[in-house]
Amino acid sequence: ATITVLNGPNLNLLGVREPGLYGNKTLRDIQNGLEQLAATLGHDLEFFQSNAEFEIIEQIHQAYSRGVDFILINPAAFTHTSVAIRDALLATKIAFIEVHLSNVHAREAFRRHSYFSDIAVGVICGLGARGYELALQAAHQILQERTQ
Ligand code: DQA
Repeated sequence: ATITVLNGPNLNLLGVREPGLYGNKTLRDIQNGLEQLAATLGHDLEFFQSNAEFEIIEQIHQAYSRGVDFILINPAAFTHTSVAIRDALLATKIAFIEVHLSNVHAREAFRRHSYFSDIAVGVICGLGARGYELALQAAHQILQERTQ
């Protein structure tokens, strides 16, 4: 299946950005790990990061046109602000897992609200970069169950 991994603003700075919260791995490191895992599981992985809300929305629209089967998304700060990205996911009905590196519930109160969690298949937070790998494994199993 085709799985798209979307990353929102400032995640291009992973590795240097608040490593105590977000870890030492760069986004490229995370991407490399996911690509290896995807290859083992037999999936095509697409990876996209943007600091611009509209680009993430357009990537979701393109994912729909291309028949992408599943999305893993870390909307980053847009988690707490973006009705527009939420609406793109609702409009395209692509199943997705929401991922956060940090435990958003253990931080500022404004990070506790997500515009995505209630429409996500599931949410993973606080497990660092391994959260993406767990999400990919879960997506793999969910896609398998769908075809059974
Ligand atoms: C984040 C958590 C968000 O609150 C924050 O704005 C981010 C990263 C995370 O992965 O922990 O940019 O999504």
